[in-house]
Parts: sequence; C-alpha cells; structure tokens
Amino acid sequence: MALWGGRFSQAADQRFKYFNDSLRFDYRLAEQDIVGSIGWSKALVTVSVLSVDEQKRLEIALNELLISVQNDPQQILQSDAEDIHSWVEQRLIEKVGDLGKKLHTGRSRNDQVATDLKLWCKTEVMTLITAITHLQQQLVNTAEKYQDAVMPGYTHLQRAQPVTFAHWCLAYFEMLTRDKSRLHDALVRFDVSPLGSGALAGTAYPIDRDELAKNLGFTRATNNSLDSVSDRDHVMELLSIASISMNHLSRFAEDLIIFNSGEANFVELSDRVTSGSSLMPQKKNPDALELIRGKSGRVIGALTGAMMTFKGLPLAYNKDMQEDKEGLFDALDTWHDCLNMAALVLEDIKINYPRCLEAAKQGYSNATELADYLVAKGVPFREAHHIVGEVVVAAIAKQKALEELTLDEFKLFSSVIKQDVYDILSIESCLNKRSAKGGVSPKQVSAAIVNAKNCIKN
Ligand code: ARG
Repeated sequence: MALWGGRFSQAADQRFKYFNDSLRFDYRLAEQDIVGSIGWSKALVTVSVLSVDEQKRLEIALNELLISVQNDPQQILQSDAEDIHSWVEQRLIEKVGDLGKKLHTGRSRNDQVATDLKLWCKTEVMTLITAITHLQQQLVNTAEKYQDAVMPGYTHLQRAQPVTFAHWCLAYFEMLTRDKSRLHDALVRFDVSPLGSGALAGTAYPIDRDELAKNLGFTRATNNSLDSVSDRDHVMELLSIASISMNHLSRFAEDLIIFNSGEANFVELSDRVTSGSSLMPQKKNPDALELIRGKSGRVIGALTGAMMTFKGLPLAYNKDMQEDKEGLFDALDTWHDCLNMAALVLEDIKINYPRCLEAAKQGYSNATELADYLVAKGVPFREAHHIVGEVVVAAIAKQKALEELTLDEFKLFSSVIKQDVYDILSIESCLNKRSAKGGVSPKQVSAAIVNAKNCIKN
C-alpha cells in the first residue's frame, strides 16, 4: 500500500505506478534511509512523540533491517513499494506493528530524501577519494620505474621537446590531486543536514536540528527549510567534479592510445586490458582506454542532464527532482570504474625505450636548445629563433638531425656556433637544463616523485 492512500478512491494505473516509482534505483539509499530514521526516532523522544522504550524498539528493528539490507541489498527490489522510504517504513511496521507508524511524525519524504542523498554523497566521496589515491599510487609507481624513459613531448601533436614517461605520469598525478581536493572542498559544503525541514516550511515539532544533524555525522543543520528540500547542489557539484576528472582520464586514455598506436609504438599494453578483432588476427585493441575516453561523454551528459532538470524548478520540492538519482549513481559508478581501469592499465604497461628515444631525437625537438645556445652567445632571441628556423629547413633538406650537421654547415647560418654546440644538442642536455621547479630534468622529476609519495600519505 502507498504511504498516501487515504485521499484516493482509485488505485494507481500500473503504467503510472511504474513511471512514478523510484525503488528500482533509490534502493541504493537503504542504509542512509535507515540511519536517518534512527536519528529521527531519537529526535522524536526529545519532543515526547516517542517514549524512550518505543524509540529503543524502533532502533533495534531498524538496526536489524540495516544488517539485513547490508547482507542482501537486492531483496529490496522484490517489493513493489513506491520508493526506499516507503519500503523501510513498510518493513518497520511488519517488524514492530503500529509503533512503526509513529516514526514519520513531523518528517516528510522531502527532507528525508534530501538527507538520505546527502549522506550517500558523503560516503561516496570517501570511496572516490580512495579510488583516486589508488590511481595516483599507480602513476607514481610507473613514474618511478620509467624515470629514464625519454620520449617526445608534444604541442599541437607535433614533436616539441623531449620529456620522460615519468614526467608524463606525474602530469596526470597533479590533475588527480586537484580532483581530490575538489572532493574535499565539496565535503565541507555537504556537511549540513536538511533533516527536520519537513515538507518545505520546517517541522512543527521543536526539535534541536543541530543536535540531530550531529547525531547523523553532519556538522550542523541547514538554515532555511525551503532551500533544504530544494537543494541539489551536491548532485550538480559531484557531477561537475566527476566531469572534470573524467576529462582528465579521457586525455590520459587518448595519450596512451596514441602512444600505443602502430605509428608511435612507444608503449605496449598488457593482454589483460586489450582485446582482439574477430576478423583481423594481428590486432590488439586498446579497448580499456577507448572505453574510458568514451565514458567521459556519459558522465558529462549526466551533469548536463541534472543542470537542465533543476534550472527551471520553482521552490520547493517537485517530482522532477527524483530524476537526480539515476544520473548521479551512473556517473559516479562510471567514474569509479574508470579510475580503477586506468590503474589496471598502468599496472603492467611496457615502455619501448629504443623507439621512444628514437622518436624523441627525431622531429627537431632540440631546436629550442640551439636557439638558447645562440642567445647565450649574445644573439637576441628573436633573431636566434629565425636562424634556427633556417637551420631546421636546411637539415630537413639534407635529411639530417640537427646534431648530424657538420660545424661548417652550422657556420653558414651563424658564425658564433662552435664545437660546443654538440653538447647542448644532446637529449641529456635538453632534459638537464629544464631544472627549474616543475621541469623535466631528472633531478626535478625524482624530487617530484618524492613529493607525490608524501602527498599520497597525507
Ligand atoms: N522518490 C522521491 C524522490 O526521489 C522521494 C520524495 C517524494 N516526495 C514527494 N513529495 N512525493 O524524490
């Protein structure tokens, strides 16, 4: 039976019921609904709606229910209850009889669902932080292993300057650090309890809402009941954080897909995270990475969907808001899976050292060094840039790398070039020179690895 049968003389059309019910997805809020209900039952004692003994009986029954749903969450799906709140109340009444009917005094499903979802978001944030840290750990491990793996760095997907695979790994480490810090920031805002806001105007019982909030693990209660039941900022905020992070993961995936291509051949992905073609026996496709890249679209879609759903809603609760959950659950599950999959891809990735080095040497990625060399010899940078451009054109015509040009060939472009030019054109010199903070010099990268390890510990 629905929670609201009294006013109705006709049963709901089955098609409407299916359309309206949310149990098939909000069953995931079962634990939060039960914990919130225990908190509410305690508050009801303080306003003499429940006796201490009644509250104890309710709490025992709710705890039994909690254990039961923890062991078997799917049991909930067998019921035809409208939503998780109705389901918990029905089970409670089955267990303790009429006493169970007292629990909803002074409470509405509007403040209830807002509280449940916020509690769920708080727990989920902690799980996501753990998953991000795991991927960060994997990035640091990979960086540590491949500090000496020189490869080309790109701008415009044109070889630009040499970098190392370790430096590349640590770039993604930084992005994930920011994602994590966004989650921590969000937690501060999520720490406010809507319970006791009633349907929209506040509860009619003089409950100490701050005390209730603290019992539920929040820092305090919300300030305005209309806002409390209408606020889904936490949904949009988590979806925003997820979307930004999926952008990072998508770029990570795209980089590795390029590195793994036959053309680049910089890395080899493990058989464990690739799949074959049904037709072409030679193929080993980077499916894990392609799916990470592909799934970013769906997470960003969920954010857009939520924004659209909420943007025109009048205060306070509207049933449109029930649409918040499926997108959120799916997006966060997807993000979580992608974090884990990215970590798995790194677990036994192999770097093709000779090929990476060869590619780093090609493409005139030491041209900037030559310009800097000229600058050191007193040539103004703009002029040096122009001279090196001409040297590169000549080298391309001769099909030579810069360091393969003879001194006489160099001198045609600038008389200041001497034998010592060859030292600065070496890959080692290109790397070593970039020793300012954040640069690719081996010293900086190994310091960055130490910092990254500390950052994970804290
Ligand atoms: N299933 C609903 C939701 O997810 C719960 C709140 C229902 N409130 C109401 N006034 N009908 O939003």
